[in-house]
Amino acid sequence: MRVLIVGGGGREHALAWKLAQSPSCQAIFAAPGNAGTADLGENLNIHDSDIHGICNAANERRIDLVVVGPEAPLAAGLVDVLNEREIPAFGPTQDAARIESSKWFAKSIMQAAGVPHARGELFDTAQAAHKWLEILGPDDLPVLKADGLAAGKGVIVPDHIDDAHEAIDQMFTGAFGSAGERVVIEDRLSGMEASAMAIVSGTDILPLPLSCDYKRIMDNDHGPNTGGMGVYAPPGFVGDPDDVFSSIHQPVVDQMAADGCKFRGLLYAGLMLDDGEMNVLEFNARFGDPETQAVLPLLDGDLLPVLAASAKGEALSRDAIAHSGKASVSIAIVSGGYPGPYDTGKPIHGLDAVDDTVDIFHAGTAIDDDGRTTTAGGRVLAVTAVADTLAEARGIAYDNVQRITFDGSFHRTDIALRELT
Ligand code: AMP
Ligand code: GLY
Repeated sequence: MRVLIVGGGGREHALAWKLAQSPSCQAIFAAPGNAGTADLGENLNIHDSDIHGICNAANERRIDLVVVGPEAPLAAGLVDVLNEREIPAFGPTQDAARIESSKWFAKSIMQAAGVPHARGELFDTAQAAHKWLEILGPDDLPVLKADGLAAGKGVIVPDHIDDAHEAIDQMFTGAFGSAGERVVIEDRLSGMEASAMAIVSGTDILPLPLSCDYKRIMDNDHGPNTGGMGVYAPPGFVGDPDDVFSSIHQPVVDQMAADGCKFRGLLYAGLMLDDGEMNVLEFNARFGDPETQAVLPLLDGDLLPVLAASAKGEALSRDAIAHSGKASVSIAIVSGGYPGPYDTGKPIHGLDAVDDTVDIFHAGTAIDDDGRTTTAGGRVLAVTAVADTLAEARGIAYDNVQRITFDGSFHRTDIALRELT
């Protein structure tokens, strides 16, 4: 099979790396890809939002399967257009992608399916939203969410009621573009967070190992949110993973199918667990980034036929996601200044000095005119180690992270530490 991966981050490099190992993979293309995907196949200079460019490239390159990484092209209907052209694509249609692209749609599905979640209300005027905050009172601080896609920035967890009112004004005056035209105000929950991803083909689901990502820039979860500073898998604080998938993913995909909105692709649930009680905070309609960089290296099976089966709505083979019960730790190395402004074009040193047993997943990297691998983004790359125990995986990952440097490089030092103390 000839595979085209849409996107250019660490998730897409990890997907390309895993799919390239399949005996049935003949060629890998990435649009636009990064320096990591360039090593595995051919990068196409096409932006992930260029639907017609992607469709044309898929035709020209005789692509057998398009795998869509990011949420924006899914929400824009890329899979629908590929389907019209009879090009198999892994990912949901625009309609089904609403499970991520509309927080309120996700809530209505969870409500109908009886899936535990943070309760909320929908507002389409600032006035009504402010009034609701007054009814809740200053001691019942909620969470505010732009209903639409806001590049991971549309969730505000205020520490003070004044911040909540200010966030509402910002959302309704276009701080998140059209995503903030409707705002969901929901109950604030507390607890440990975990990510649960499953490959879905209609009502057939194939659970992947659970994982935990670290969103804040600094150790001990200080500082602003980022696209993800590291991940470990699996978490020790979630009971039986089967319970997660049977009580969340299965009822949700069944409900969507019953509503005539069948889901195909990857269904990701962001969970909060508090004293045995589990609630869904959000769904994503695609592989998590950076969760994918920690989860795919745990799978022993051949992922390509499963993604192809999902794309065609066929039954999913259990063998494909067999895993040996190992643990993984993935640590992101980022540019100094990230998630604020940062420099790019810094040569990356030490990529050849890492152990053969660890995987380097590129995110913001490029090859310069002299053939050097340089930084080209905030999250530059991730180092993933797999071992029998989380402690071992963590040790190997950090040992190798120290060997990769560039001017201003930064990483967190506490990924997975909470499981070991
Ligand atoms: P999201 O962008 O939806 O992943 O949300 C970002 C973060 O906001 C989550 O990882 C949680 O830490 C936090 N969050 C979202 N919803 C809630 C909620 N209902 N209660 C408490 N924290 C939340
Ligand atoms: N790691 C969270 C996400 O992929 O949205």
